[in-house]
Amino acid sequence: MSTTINTMLVEKRVIHPPAEFSAQARISSMEQYQALCEEAEQNLEEFWRNMAESGLEWRKPFTKVLDDSNAPFYTWFEDGELNVSENCLDIHLKNGNADKTALIFEADDGSVETVTYRQLHARVCRIANGIRALGYGKGDRAILYLPMSIEAIAMMQACARLGLTHSVVFGGFSARSLHQRIVDVGARLVLTADAQMRGGRQIPLKAAVDEALAYEGGDVVEKVVVYQRTGADINWEEGRDVPLSELETGQSEECEPVAVEAEHPLFVLYTSGSTGKPKGVQHASAGYLLWAKQTAQWVFDARPEDVFWCTADIGWVTGHSYITYGSLAAGLTQIVFEGIPTYPHAGRFWEMIQRHGVTIFYTAPTAIRSLIKASEQSPEHHPSRYDLSSLRLLGSVGEPINPEAWMWYYENVGGSRCPIVDTWWQTETGGHILTPLPGATPLKPGSCTLPLPGIDAAVVDEAGNELPPGAGGLLVIRRPWPAMIRAVWGDENRYRSSYFPDELRGMYMAGDNAQRDEDGYFWILGRTDDVLSVSGHRLGGTEIESALVAHELVAEAAVVGRPDATTGEAIVAFVMLKQAAPSAEEAQKVAETLRNWVASQVGPIAKPKDIRFGNNLPKTRSGKIMRRLLRLVAEGREIDQDTSTLENPDVLKQFSGVY
Ligand code: WT7
Repeated sequence: MSTTINTMLVEKRVIHPPAEFSAQARISSMEQYQALCEEAEQNLEEFWRNMAESGLEWRKPFTKVLDDSNAPFYTWFEDGELNVSENCLDIHLKNGNADKTALIFEADDGSVETVTYRQLHARVCRIANGIRALGYGKGDRAILYLPMSIEAIAMMQACARLGLTHSVVFGGFSARSLHQRIVDVGARLVLTADAQMRGGRQIPLKAAVDEALAYEGGDVVEKVVVYQRTGADINWEEGRDVPLSELETGQSEECEPVAVEAEHPLFVLYTSGSTGKPKGVQHASAGYLLWAKQTAQWVFDARPEDVFWCTADIGWVTGHSYITYGSLAAGLTQIVFEGIPTYPHAGRFWEMIQRHGVTIFYTAPTAIRSLIKASEQSPEHHPSRYDLSSLRLLGSVGEPINPEAWMWYYENVGGSRCPIVDTWWQTETGGHILTPLPGATPLKPGSCTLPLPGIDAAVVDEAGNELPPGAGGLLVIRRPWPAMIRAVWGDENRYRSSYFPDELRGMYMAGDNAQRDEDGYFWILGRTDDVLSVSGHRLGGTEIESALVAHELVAEAAVVGRPDATTGEAIVAFVMLKQAAPSAEEAQKVAETLRNWVASQVGPIAKPKDIRFGNNLPKTRSGKIMRRLLRLVAEGREIDQDTSTLENPDVLKQFSGVY
């Protein structure tokens, strides 16, 4: 079981929401929060029924709230019908917000383009009509491989408008990863761009699509729509590739939204698990959207005049829920940023907050930590050099935020006046789960605080018994919620075994270790599986191992995470070559080869930081690699743990060289 931390030692400080903030917040006191929790506890179905009836526009009203007869396969609002895109766009045209700014796009080079809800609606309709003209409709799957852009959001919305299920692949993944997802999801359509701009560099996208489609099974794709972002010279495959501009030409700016069943799969998003193969996390339409919108309103306390900036990429769930869906459904004005936080300088985020008058800023701890470091090195880009007075709320997501980074963020970015919502959730949960409500919840730096109303989260032991405060255990959610994962695409068994193990008797197992303190606050301790969190990106250790052993030089490999002050975790690979362990000089070269290989197989984000070579890996007598020992070696720590189960105790000594 996990290690336990003394939360009292970590941080004693409690920060209360500023009175001015609470005074005008949607949820403004703990009493109000508790009343909502009680309402949900007393009648869970009534609670969600009211929320879904008032929160969404239905084409056909639902009568049934939750069907748990086939647990753990749940359905929500099953006999209702709606359209997600209509709920994100059309509702604002009807309620007098047509000319409100929907998206403020800032390109890598600093140029800005703005669209209103009316303009975004028109664009989405044109694209949807174009996609329909190509012959696609409800039930088809599309893969999206795109840079952050208005076009990318419009394409996701266009899929939703037609009932196509989309699967967005992060632009940092390789052609191999793209291919794997195309085949797994059975996509007949790919939406991509010629290239993307990041940090002043042009990174090709279409070339990776061409490569992916050339691999076995890639011919399932019939059409590739290409948004010409940079005008780069690319290969055009006659009859297959269609420029986006051509797709839109002559298309009407009206496109009747297709009503779909509440449970219709809105998207499949691949995420790493504990095997080499990523899991296709499948989300439904109504339950997902309801929670994405409701949490945008509660947790970001969305107000009509807000300018909201979520810095995530649409390739991750954060970009789905809090750029493309929840925040548009909530009618927010938002920033969409193509570039990176350190280009052309480390003050880019602060400069953009100042330029656009951002009021709510939502980013990842890894970005904060790297900007702390950068502002120490170049004080002229310290946040205090910018006017950040427009900010009223800050957020954090993706990994635990250490109390030091929390305080820096609070004081230097938020001017000690903005609450910080540390939001714990996952690709699988669809939206926020454990998080402060900014007008109500007293904050403790480093804790994601309490479950949202309607969420029954707990910390349990391996038999599913709830643990007392201060004891580390498994984070679970004991009752279903509308935005939960519906399936692992095409793999019923994996859905059950990953999330609903028999021992936990129907509870959803998050895969995180956590503990609660005396006040019931949750503190996340890390993953229970070998999933790594690198710069807030979730990567599977096993996936990287599989890539390594697929290289002709490699006999065996084990991958673990090592704590890293900036990226959260750094990837460390222990590699046994087919030939004897290399000399120091050779090792350098082989390490470089393997890094590039991993980049080509999984993606540049999965490159191991350290590679260590040996003639053997530490194994138990039954042949299981002992990763916990490798973690100690990776950190350069003494092996004070029990090694008696180790078949070959001497093997640890050989890994001294780091490449
Ligand atoms: C894993 C989920 C949530 C959207 C982005 C990541 C870790 C996420 C927090 C937080 C501590 C966090 C967990 C979780 N995580 N948010 N506020 N505090 N840990 O989604 O890629 O599905 O990763 O990220 O380990 O299981 P994801």
